[in-house]
Amino acid sequence: MAEIFYHRPALAFRLSKLILQVAIGSAASSGVFLAAPRRTGKSTFAREDLRPALEDAGAIVLYADLWKDQTKDPGLVIVQAVREAVGRSEGFVTRLAKGAGMEKVTVGGLSFSLDRIGLGNDIDLTTALAALSDESKKIIVLIIDEAQHAITTDQGVAALFALKAARDELNSSKHHGLRIVCTGSNRDKLAMLRNSKDQAFFGASMVQFPTLDQDFINWFCANVDLPHSLDPSNVFELFKESGYRPELLGAAADEIRFDFALDPEMVPHRFALLVRAQAEEINADLRKVIHSLTPIQSAVIRVMSAKGESYAPFEAPTMNLYAKALAQAGIAESDIKVEVPGVQQALLALQEKKLVWKASRGVYAVDEQVIVELLRDAGLLEGLS
Ligand SMILES: Nc1ncnc2c1ncn2[C@@H]1O[C@H](COP(=O)(O)OP(=O)(O)O)[C@@H](O)[C@H]1O
Ligand SMILES: [Mg+2]
Repeated sequence: MAEIFYHRPALAFRLSKLILQVAIGSAASSGVFLAAPRRTGKSTFAREDLRPALEDAGAIVLYADLWKDQTKDPGLVIVQAVREAVGRSEGFVTRLAKGAGMEKVTVGGLSFSLDRIGLGNDIDLTTALAALSDESKKIIVLIIDEAQHAITTDQGVAALFALKAARDELNSSKHHGLRIVCTGSNRDKLAMLRNSKDQAFFGASMVQFPTLDQDFINWFCANVDLPHSLDPSNVFELFKESGYRPELLGAAADEIRFDFALDPEMVPHRFALLVRAQAEEINADLRKVIHSLTPIQSAVIRVMSAKGESYAPFEAPTMNLYAKALAQAGIAESDIKVEVPGVQQALLALQEKKLVWKASRGVYAVDEQVIVELLRDAGLLEGLS
């Protein structure tokens, strides 16, 4: 293949405009949130298309991937992205060192350690980003990939608040602007970063990030280089069925490439089988986990799925919904006693099974949208919202 990635320059251009040029009355300066399901191409787009588009438009782009190394605290990953950008130029470092009252510091930054930038360190994120802004005279865009992870740790939450302060300072007329772009695989989780007034990104715009389209499939079919060509409209149907995940197509193509005994005429048929088999396998695993839940665990995840963003685990109306879900599952009314400790235990078990996700302040969300869809398709969300 000539290019490994399919590019979406028009989308990148439109988004970069939305991010950089804040219209009067628009909330975009509070941040822009891009949501789309897992493995559908958000990170690839952010790195390969959006970042270059923002740079072409004259911005400095910082990129923090909170998903890549899960052993690192998300707060630290954000701080490191800032350190890295500041460290790229000696000018910034000198300015910073002076600002921190270290006139005697050797010019050349040798005795200035970037470790001094951080949360609770002597150079906070606002100071570091303001120096970067003043030195470059450019707008700064920080892309936080899988941003919802930031609210799972105290340092992550602290980093978000530090960024809010930095954003307010840099967006004042004294500096050249700071925009924060957050991506995430789950709308409900991402929404937690902006929904309540005490959250760092209150009022930020939520954009449903478009999935890869027929054009991508045309590109894929034109370049896939199999012993027999694939029909783009058939492949697009397969792509839709399997949740718009490019990897499933790639893996099916690989399997065919290594199957030397396969009759070329059979390639399209075999390709379809392989894509469907993988998609089915992923869902079958999930269904198995869901079927193994205890009645109360099942009731909790069903109600959570049905309520979405407005789910409040221990409120009286929610408790009634759990009871209703249990009754729907055929548990006799006399056996139903829904109490807070039982719900707490169920929530813990659901987290362990990776069906449910918990933010640091005890806010819950279903881990992945597919779980909600599986439950809905099975008719298990009816009457529960
Ligand atoms: N534009 C693209 N062209 C080719 N392959 C892509 C493209 N976007 C995503 N992919 C492939 O799909 C997979 C998932 O993409 P990724 O960007 O990691 O998704 P996400 O960040 O949404 O989870 C990767 O293996 C990537 O190579
Ligand atoms: Mg990603």
